[in-house]
Amino acid sequence: MPIVSLQGVTKTYPPTTRDGAPVVAVDDVTLDIEQGDVFGIIGYSGAGKSTLVRLINALEPTTRGRLIVDGVDITTLRERDLRRIRGGIGMIFQQFNLFSAKTVKANIAYPLRLAGWSKADIDARVAELLAFVGLSDKARAFPEQLSGGQKQRVGIARALATRPAILLADEATSALDPQTTHEVLELLARVNREQGITIIVITHEMDVIQTLATRVAVMECGRVVEQGDVFEVFSDPQNPASQRFVGTVVKGVPTPAEQASLRARHDGRLVTFSFRDGDSSQAQVFLDLAEAGLEFELVFGGINDIRGRAFGHLTLAIRGDSPAIDAALARIRAHATVTEIGSDAPAGPAAAEGGVA
Ligand SMILES: Nc1ncnc2c1ncn2[C@@H]1O[C@H](COP(=O)(O)OP(=O)(O)OP(=O)(O)O)[C@@H](O)[C@H]1O
Ligand SMILES: [Mg+2]
Repeated sequence: MPIVSLQGVTKTYPPTTRDGAPVVAVDDVTLDIEQGDVFGIIGYSGAGKSTLVRLINALEPTTRGRLIVDGVDITTLRERDLRRIRGGIGMIFQQFNLFSAKTVKANIAYPLRLAGWSKADIDARVAELLAFVGLSDKARAFPEQLSGGQKQRVGIARALATRPAILLADEATSALDPQTTHEVLELLARVNREQGITIIVITHEMDVIQTLATRVAVMECGRVVEQGDVFEVFSDPQNPASQRFVGTVVKGVPTPAEQASLRARHDGRLVTFSFRDGDSSQAQVFLDLAEAGLEFELVFGGINDIRGRAFGHLTLAIRGDSPAIDAALARIRAHATVTEIGSDAPAGPAAAEGGVA
């Protein structure tokens, strides 16, 4: 059974101007998040990601649909029962949201005090959490004495204090530099691996999804336009919005500007071959071209690794007579994705299979 299940969930806000229309922030979203997943939610600003998180966290009521968290349909619960649900969900934020007047230790102890833990239990738990996030020497420091990465580690320790089953991270690394982002992502991966906590990561940073998530949902205008295994979505995105996002991080796909530059620099027909481990082999493409007596040159490409699986895109300039090239490409299409970079048409694996001539 999924730990979080949304079934046709919609959230509508009243109009923000007197004659405006209601704002549909989340529009008929259906998705399941399995226990132990690191589930990424990605989308441009205003797509509805944070709203979705506030619904899962039971901070706001849904307008329509069913939302089941840990086996309980929270759309039917009263405030008193919702508080218990919220206790089972930890949350970390872009701006860390630490209490600046409290020490690190007091920040982490805060949810435990609210939950009525004894002082001895609180002390033991805080020490354990500080060790886990690598900040045992900072117990008495105040947030302003910490770096951004250290603040977020305090945020993570505080979110984990009451042993939640789910951790929600809304743009948790967006205020951090790349190196610190990497450290915080490592820590989140450990939280998931060592404590089995289901993590829901909301971000507009595709590389965060690429390194951390197992599954991903892409949101646009309140809707989930694509969801699935991260490798599947990254190596073969189906929706135009997913293709735009994926194109920003995936190596080997020439942008329109790069395509123009390739066309200016190389003779012959430019063709991008896309490979995924488990399906076709690149070697076969080279063999097919050589067997057809075609001359070719590798002009652009890249191989991507996601969670130990590889996929890549190689662009070749192929020279020879056109019917021979057509015949070879027809053979190759049986085992690889082939996209021709035509004169002015969009290309890349984003374009329809077979591409444009
Ligand atoms: N309380 C509210 N009242 C009215 N409209 C709202 C409210 N909260 C959010 N919205 C609207 O809902 C839509 C989705 O907002 P949301 O904050 O969920 O987007 P987001 O994907 O998290 O964006 P960002 O990446 O900028 O954080 C936006 O159009 C926003 O203006
Ligand atoms: Mg947001």
